[in-house]
Amino acid sequence: MLRVVVLISGSGSNLRAFLDLCASGAVDATVVAVGADVDASGLAHARQFGIPTFVEPFATGDDRDAWGSRLADRVASFEPDLVILSGFMRLMPSVFVRRFAPMLLNTHPAFLPEFPGAHAVRDAIAAGVTETGASVIVVDDGVDTGPILAQRRVPVLESDTEDSLHERIKNVERELLAEVVRDIAARESAAIEEN
Ligand code: GAR
Repeated sequence: MLRVVVLISGSGSNLRAFLDLCASGAVDATVVAVGADVDASGLAHARQFGIPTFVEPFATGDDRDAWGSRLADRVASFEPDLVILSGFMRLMPSVFVRRFAPMLLNTHPAFLPEFPGAHAVRDAIAAGVTETGASVIVVDDGVDTGPILAQRRVPVLESDTEDSLHERIKNVERELLAEVVRDIAARESAAIEEN
């Protein structure tokens, strides 16, 4: 069973969907811990499932690498096979990326390389595009520049607000993440059988 640590910063609705999929057996993975950089409301989802949570806060004036190392140590203590950034809104220091990539994924609410960064949905609406999308990537040192593992287009409707569009994109993110994690789990179990 693939051991997964999920990191969040916000409401964790995608985390919730992922926990439900794991619990139902639709994805062959188990979330062993959920962490955050702030006291995120989404940590409550993990607690409901009896999953350990932790917060590694980034204090004003903190050294980015020192914080990244502390966070990496916390994550590593749960011995994950895979780390998922699910609405984690802080740029990962390379000291963290080096510890876990390529088994370090990020979901993003745009069809990368379009609209990278923290305001992808707002930026798509402001640009007046008729379609945007959702992506799952491997995290590298850049801002949403890592290898793309899965992505799908999502239409922008005339009536869309940032919230309504983001909700539809998140539904697609959830499906893409499930597909990617299923593939990784299948690959890992095939590799174990070979050895
Ligand atoms: C998701 O759309 C995720 O892709 C995005 O934050 C949202 C989290 O929603 N992440 C980024 O924008 C990272 N650049 P949630 O807290 O409801 O799961």
